Amino acid sequence: MRVLGIESTAHTLGIGIAQNFPPYILANERSKYEPVTGGIHPREASRSHAENLGTVLKKALTKANITIDEIDAIAVALGPGMGPCLRVGATAARALATYYNKTLIPVNHGIAHIEIGNLLSGFEDPLIIYVSGGNTSIIAYKYGRYRVFGETQDIALGNLRDVFSREAGIAPPYIVNGSHVIDLCAQRSESKEVLDLPYIVKGQDVSYAGLLTSALKKLKEGYKLEDVCYSVVEISFSMITEVAERGLAHTRKSEVLLTGGVSASQLLDEKVKKMAESHGVKYYNVPPAYAGDNGAMIAWTGVLAYLSGVRMNPQEARIDQRWRIEEVDVPWRG
Ligand SMILES: Nc1ncnc2c1ncn2[C@@H]1O[C@H](COP(=O)(O)OP(=O)(O)O)[C@@H](O)[C@H]1O
Ligand SMILES: [Mg+2]
Repeated sequence: MRVLGIESTAHTLGIGIAQNFPPYILANERSKYEPVTGGIHPREASRSHAENLGTVLKKALTKANITIDEIDAIAVALGPGMGPCLRVGATAARALATYYNKTLIPVNHGIAHIEIGNLLSGFEDPLIIYVSGGNTSIIAYKYGRYRVFGETQDIALGNLRDVFSREAGIAPPYIVNGSHVIDLCAQRSESKEVLDLPYIVKGQDVSYAGLLTSALKKLKEGYKLEDVCYSVVEISFSMITEVAERGLAHTRKSEVLLTGGVSASQLLDEKVKKMAESHGVKYYNVPPAYAGDNGAMIAWTGVLAYLSGVRMNPQEARIDQRWRIEEVDVPWRG
């Protein structure tokens, strides 16, 4: 069976097509809203998604070389995310499901990030490090649901890096030749010394807001931009790796999965890999095309959910901006 998945929770409009047998993923098309200045403006992003939906849909079907008749169900990310952006995907999914008489499947965006990682890695039961622009969580499956074993108490890791770069005047663009500008800047630090900045870990949680404020203050005080970038990168990555390591010890999982947009950062990959190796557990970093927001992950999670009987009446498909992953039953595991 085949599922068409729609992702529109934030900056990316993604449409993917997946099936329940190899090669599993048939299409993963997207259009990305890139603000010229500042951060993501939800209304502008949603307008961009609405404008591009038809084209991206067509591209996905062409790529998969199928027609809409060969699709069994429409999956859509109903949350968490930005209201105006989520509404574009939800409206499209309701319309397609109703008009073409397809089953509608609600998908949680965070769970989709995990399930595409499970598919690509072949892992059965990993400890998950989910780091993106809006999320920073340590997650593991237990008793029918994905449970959060630690998360940020304020801003997400990707948000810290994006906002710092913007305020420091080195972004946008945030990504240059596949690397984040803060990582490129950190590499140019001559001293490679970690400045005195807040390293905040509380139990299994992290906090990045204090680090952001203090790092910007250091810039005002005249510290070199490269050295401040280096310190922010080192401290923020060490914090998340520390809680992941403790999460691993507590849960006794034998696999570590790194996913979400920030997983493309080479330094984070190295740190987490080293940590996993020191515990003798398997490690997999989801490649950027599937780690950042994308439609294939929604389609694939839709396949898993569909086969477990998850369904939704199109009239009831409402968005939930704060839909937490531990609220979702995961009948396809365990
Ligand atoms: N090549 C890259 N290297 C490091 N960070 C990246 C890279 N590409 C994207 N990111 C970061 O990933 C984050 C976006 O993650 P993503 O999962 O796509 O979105 P969201 O947070 O909306 O779910 C942003 O903070 C962005 O800076
Ligand atoms: Mg995401």
